[in-house]
Amino acid sequence: MLKDKKVILGVCGSIAAYKAAILVRLLVKAGANVKVILTADAANFITPLTLATLSKNPVYTQYFEEETGVWSNHVELGLWADFIVIAPASANTLAKMAGGLCDNLLTAVYLSAKCPVYLAPAMDLDMWKHESTRNNIDQLIAYGNQIIQPGTGELASGLYGAGRMAEPEDIVTFLEDRIKASLPLLGKKVMVTAGPTYEAIDPVRFIGNHSSGKMGFAIADQFASLGAEVTLITGPTAEQSRYPMRRVDVVSAAEMLQACLADFTAAEITVMSAAVADYTPVLKAEQKIKKSTEEFSLELKKTQDILATLGQLKTASQLLIGFALETQDEEEYAKSKLVKKNLDLIVLNSLNDKGAGFKMDTNKITIFNNALEKIEFEIKSKTDVAVDICNEILKLVKP
Ligand code: CTP
Repeated sequence: MLKDKKVILGVCGSIAAYKAAILVRLLVKAGANVKVILTADAANFITPLTLATLSKNPVYTQYFEEETGVWSNHVELGLWADFIVIAPASANTLAKMAGGLCDNLLTAVYLSAKCPVYLAPAMDLDMWKHESTRNNIDQLIAYGNQIIQPGTGELASGLYGAGRMAEPEDIVTFLEDRIKASLPLLGKKVMVTAGPTYEAIDPVRFIGNHSSGKMGFAIADQFASLGAEVTLITGPTAEQSRYPMRRVDVVSAAEMLQACLADFTAAEITVMSAAVADYTPVLKAEQKIKKSTEEFSLELKKTQDILATLGQLKTASQLLIGFALETQDEEEYAKSKLVKKNLDLIVLNSLNDKGAGFKMDTNKITIFNNALEKIEFEIKSKTDVAVDICNEILKLVKP
C-alpha cells in the first residue's frame, strides 16, 4: 500500500519523538519515500542524523540553512507529498495548526499542503483532556485532518492515562487502511497481456517479434497500484512487475489464448497489450531442421485473434481495451479494429512517431473511445503512458 508513496513525516517536541525513528524505518521498509521535518523542539529529543540515515533523505528543520542560505521551499514540499503524517503531534503544534499559525517549517508546509494529513497526538493526559486541546482537535477534524488516536498507558510524567502516541506499527496500519479505502479500483479484477509470443518452428527456433513487454508490465503495475487484483498474462520477457500480482507465463499465441479464456469471465477490465503473433507454423518439426536444401519455405497459418475472440464473449459489465500498432493509415485502421473487435478503447501506437515502439522506454499514443473520439498524448515514459491509459479506462469504470 505504501509503495512509492511520498510521505512527509512531521515530528514535534515530545518524548515520543524517539518512536519517529521506528516509524520512519517501517515506512521506508514498506516502500515509501519519506522526508522528515523536525520542529526546533523535536531536535532536542531526536537528532536529524538518525532520521536522515533512516529515511535516506535530508531532514528539514528550518526554512533555510544558516550557513548556506539554502531555502527549504515549504510550498514545494507540501505539493510533493502524497500525505503528511505528524507523529508525535504536540499540543502546541496542534493548537497552531488549528489556529492557522505558521511560525516554523512544519506548520507552513501543513498550511500549503493539499494532500491528506494524519495526526498522531502525544501529550500528558491532562493536556489531552484539556478543553482547548479538545476544541483544537475538533477544529482540525473539521478542516479534514484525521486523528490517529493516542493510546492509554504510562506516560512520561509517570501518570497513567490517555495521551500516549499510537505505536508506530499501528500508525502504519492506520495509513495503509486509509490508502486502501481511497483506491479507486480496490478489489477489481483486471487482466493484462504483455510481451511477444514465440511460435516454434522446431525445438530450437521460433518466430517472434521485438516486443519487450515494458508497456504491458507498466499498465499491470499501474492497475495494481490503484488497488486492482491483476492477472498478468505474459509472453517471454525479462520484465518483472513491481507490484504484487498473479503472473501467468505463456510462450505461444495458442497458450496465450487458453490463459486469456481461463481468466476472461472473471475480469472486469481486460487490456490486451501483448504483441501476439498473427501467424504460426502449420507444423512444428519434432527434430531440429537441418540445412539440407538451398531454399527453405515455411508454411504458416493464422493464429486465432485473441482480442476479437474476447470481444465476442464480452458482457455489458466488462471493459475490453486493445492496442493497434500501425505504420500507415494509422487512425483509420485503429478505429476499424475498435469496431470490428467490439472494444471500449483502442490505444494506437504508430511506428512513425519518434520515441514510440518496441524496446524503447518511451511511447507516444493516441486513444480512441467507442464514440470514436480521439484523445492525443505527448511522448512520455512508458510508466506515464500507463497512467494515461489507466486514467482513460477509469473514466469508463462504473462505481
Ligand atoms: N491480437 C490478439 N490476437 C492476435 C493478434 C492480435 O489478441 N492473434 C491483439 C493484440 O494484442 C492487440 C490487437 O489485437 O491488442 C491489435 O494487434 P495488431 O497486431 O495491431 O493488429 P491485428 O488485429 O493483428 O491486425 P493487423 O496485423 O492486420 O494490423
